[in-house]
Amino acid sequence: MQKEFWLEKWQNNQTGFHKKSVHPLLIKHLDSLFLQNGNTVFVPLCGKSIDMLWLNNLGFKVVGVEFSELAVEQFFAENQLTFTKTSEEKFIRYDYQNIRIYQGDFFNLNAEMIKDTKAVYDRAAFIALPDDIAKKYTKKMYELFNESVKTLLITLEFEKKRGPIGPPFSTTIDKVNHFYQDYFKINLLEEIDIIEDEPKFREQGCDFLVERCFILQS
Ligand SMILES: C[S@@+](CC[C@H](N)C(=O)[O-])C[C@H]1O[C@@H](n2cnc3c(N)ncnc32)[C@H](O)[C@@H]1O
Repeated sequence: MQKEFWLEKWQNNQTGFHKKSVHPLLIKHLDSLFLQNGNTVFVPLCGKSIDMLWLNNLGFKVVGVEFSELAVEQFFAENQLTFTKTSEEKFIRYDYQNIRIYQGDFFNLNAEMIKDTKAVYDRAAFIALPDDIAKKYTKKMYELFNESVKTLLITLEFEKKRGPIGPPFSTTIDKVNHFYQDYFKINLLEEIDIIEDEPKFREQGCDFLVERCFILQS
């Protein structure tokens, strides 16, 4: 069900979540991840995010996971990156130098595949999931990563008067606590109202759109 939903979005080019510029909160708070040159950053539910390219250009290895073959193919084509394609377990694995994307279901990843991860960058991943799947997602994150891995999590909170409830799903601080507190320490770094920059949310009757950036660590 979830899978068909996302594949259809990509098929129909309904990818309003995709940003053409690097996320400002990633740029601003990257230092909070305390990464060193050559460290690996895992990007769950990565779409064709150019944030992966930005991280790679800074000298980090990047591993993404994404359901949609179209998204993965577009990522490499739009950035003019030649890739090799192999199969690994239940995934098709795409490699370009220090960028690897596993095309397949996040829930099929095993610890070996992302074993050198030093940080997780979650933008529009956790908040893209309905509660029942989000619950499994946070548990899986905990199972995959050891104590030294930090997560930069970006969320959105809003109240729509019309239009679909989600995705993205409105995410309060309480919701982050509810889903993550059994597994991680949660530290709010910043919150900012970005409604002026997001006319689509305005059209759906939102008076505010609060973006937050958290650091999570187990
Ligand atoms: C809202 S988009 C965000 C993409 C990206 N993080 C970004 O910032 O542009 C969510 C993505 O997650 C993918 N996705 C959803 N569930 C997934 C799963 N279980 N395994 C892999 N990818 C998944 C969808 O195909 C979609 O591309």
